[in-house]
Amino acid sequence: MNRQPTLAAEGIAKAYTTGKLATAVLDGLSVTLGAGELALVLGPSGSGKSTLLAILSGLLRPDRGRVVALGEDLWRLSRAELERFRLHHTGFVFQGFNLFPALTAVEQVMLPLGYLGLNRRNALVRAMAALEEVGLESRAQLRPLEMSGGEKQRVAIARALAKQPQLVFADEPTSALDSTNGKIVIDSLHRIARRFGATVVCVSHDQRLAAGADRVITIQDGLLLSDRVQSDPPHAGVNRASALPPDRSP
Ligand SMILES: Nc1ncnc2c1ncn2[C@@H]1O[C@H](COP(=O)(O)OP(=O)(O)OP(=O)(O)O)[C@@H](O)[C@H]1O
Ligand SMILES: [Mg+2]
Repeated sequence: MNRQPTLAAEGIAKAYTTGKLATAVLDGLSVTLGAGELALVLGPSGSGKSTLLAILSGLLRPDRGRVVALGEDLWRLSRAELERFRLHHTGFVFQGFNLFPALTAVEQVMLPLGYLGLNRRNALVRAMAALEEVGLESRAQLRPLEMSGGEKQRVAIARALAKQPQLVFADEPTSALDSTNGKIVIDSLHRIARRFGATVVCVSHDQRLAAGADRVITIQDGLLLSDRVQSDPPHAGVNRASALPPDRSP
């Protein structure tokens, strides 16, 4: 398999210190991910999944090791460069949706596009395309209170997707959902990986989601316990921008 690596972690170590006690969470973990694949990171509660995701996405600095994302050695970038990298290339989906109560679905999705410098008209077109991608075009005018949990999570995914990031991170995106909605959310993430050649890293402790992933990575005791490739992703990036309008971001 000749797959272009987009995200590589090498020898990642992280310990948290509380009082005088340092507890190692990650202990020299390495993993390489490619374009177009959905990798599911499984592991028991407290095994360091969220910590790993934060390190891979440039939110948390590891004690040791490096993260190379799209050719950039993330933790050698200045703070401003790292902010810029995250804005332009990464999308993040959180467990609790993080939606604004007063905004409609389409407004939630348009918001980060404003930060990217898109004008209102282009942001609207792109936001609607992203909502369509997750099957929510008919819900565009609803506010969070009027949506189900599954719909809210799909809005959060559309918001991450609308930026057309090459790297998408999702921390327990299905934990607040029933299994039917959980599967819809995983399928949406999978489609994003396939259609846009994005690398999607999704953290969960729900084994049932494994069926929907290309790759299942299990961590335990700070290390990679297993790494199972379930299906070959398509050639990197070929389908990028097939559904969304051309990228006009600066
Ligand atoms: N900011 C912090 N300060 C101190 N300890 C922390 C901090 N964040 C996480 N930890 C500890 O590090 C360990 C790993 O936490 P992490 O959140 O990465 O686990 P997780 O696998 O995501 O768990 P869960 O499935 O419950 O979300 C836990 O024991 C946790 O208590
Ligand atoms: Mg967690």
